[in-house]
Amino acid sequence: MKEFWNERYGTDEYVYGTAPNVFFKEMLEKYNILGKALFPAEGEGRNAIYAAENGLEVVAFDYSNVARNKAMELATNRGVAIDYRVGEFQELGLEDERFDAVVLIFAHFAPNAVRELHQNLIKVLKPRGVIILEGFSENNLVLKKKNPKVGGPNNIEMLFSIAKLQDQFKNMDILQLEEVETELQEGPFHQGVGRVIRFVGRK
Ligand SMILES: C[S@@+](CC[C@H](N)C(=O)[O-])C[C@H]1O[C@@H](n2cnc3c(N)ncnc32)[C@H](O)[C@@H]1O
Repeated sequence: MKEFWNERYGTDEYVYGTAPNVFFKEMLEKYNILGKALFPAEGEGRNAIYAAENGLEVVAFDYSNVARNKAMELATNRGVAIDYRVGEFQELGLEDERFDAVVLIFAHFAPNAVRELHQNLIKVLKPRGVIILEGFSENNLVLKKKNPKVGGPNNIEMLFSIAKLQDQFKNMDILQLEEVETELQEGPFHQGVGRVIRFVGRK
């Protein structure tokens, strides 16, 4: 999969655009998120850079080195500093209770790893820290058949559902959890009507 992502990012274009994800931007404001934030699977950096522009201290990671290069170039152009590491969560050695927020935007992990990873992400949150997540729903598969440009994984096990998130985040206070149909306009690979799950939880 790492090769797939390096290939996808191997173009001058920002494949999910350079503007932040709309739900993330709204949640940052609604919950007045301040302090340190972690951005797993952050790709080309659009959300991490927006957070840094809004005063957050940002750590991001992704296993694609091509994505990191583009993110760092964007950060320089926008005049902000971010700590962006190449690798997987377990390689980073992050301390527990370090972050005020963890932001998962279209962070679709391998089915055999996702449950443990989500538990580990809760551990690196400070008490009362929040997780903000938007990702494609299992029900996006039907929409993707009609319009492949909307994007998202084809493997149902990599997609989200309300029940899966209720289970994986059952030790958090669920502040919001819903499935919505939304018009995505995020670069060339997220275009059109998609079904997403939106989640905000507090530790
Ligand atoms: C759809 S992209 C989303 C990128 C970014 N969050 C955004 O919304 O613009 C999914 C990203 O997950 C990354 N990824 C998938 N599995 C990963 C893993 N186990 N560790 C680190 N990054 C991973 C990919 O390299 C890719 O950049």
